[in-house]
Amino acid sequence: MSAEIASINGVLSDVSAAYIPATDDGLLRGDGVFEVARLYSGVPFALEEHYVRLAASAANLRLPYDEAALKSEVTAVLSEYGSRDGCLRIVITRGGIRLLLTEPLPARGLAVSLASVTYQPSVVLDGVKSLSYAANMLAGRLAVEKGADEALLITPEGMVLEAPTSTFFWVTNSEVFTPPLADRILESITRRHILTITGATEKSIHLPDLLGKIQAVSAVDGHELPVNGPMTVDLAGRLSDLVGSALGGS
Ligand SMILES: Cc1ncc(COP(=O)(O)O)c(C=O)c1O
Repeated sequence: MSAEIASINGVLSDVSAAYIPATDDGLLRGDGVFEVARLYSGVPFALEEHYVRLAASAANLRLPYDEAALKSEVTAVLSEYGSRDGCLRIVITRGGIRLLLTEPLPARGLAVSLASVTYQPSVVLDGVKSLSYAANMLAGRLAVEKGADEALLITPEGMVLEAPTSTFFWVTNSEVFTPPLADRILESITRRHILTITGATEKSIHLPDLLGKIQAVSAVDGHELPVNGPMTVDLAGRLSDLVGSALGGS
């Protein structure tokens, strides 16, 4: 088996040999749900929380799936994967496919520059981490076209939301903030843990009020910002301690 592994309804294969039927509405209409869990030396972080969110997403989408089968398939994939760093993607499609994929860690630099992209969250998909991610992917491409690394999603009214595949925090005078879930951002598991360790305040913010107040982001719409300030370093250390203890020191 190659470095990355797939499982489709319990059948293990190389990722290159994994296919789903062309008639699956998961493919044709983005009708399905997904999760991506981080693997530290092969051990998933917060896997239970990913299962809980997946179940909620599927229930909200009226998408049935066999949770017990999924969990045993995850165990089989992880045992095949061994003790490497990476990610585990879990996908449930309308066509009845339980797809698991292992993936390498996404390449990330020390800091990212962001470009604002106007984005209107879809009300009917509140509480669903759905496969309909074309808007998020396009937002990332539009940001790259503007010369940035990634998008910062902003509502038509100018409220800051999140990045297309990441949660968003900012720091003002040593206080940590993040937009509230009521602004229709994803209930990110990373966000939940950072809220717990920092006691961050949930607060809506308009883009102009944000500029000049961010760390670990090197620029927003061309406004350069300090990189790797003390709060970022401190938060990164505390999050890594939390991950270490959640994984039982492994
Ligand atoms: C829109 C969006 N926000 C935030 C996140 C981060 O979520 P989590 O911390 O649960 O991985 C993701 C991850 O896919 C996402 O797609």
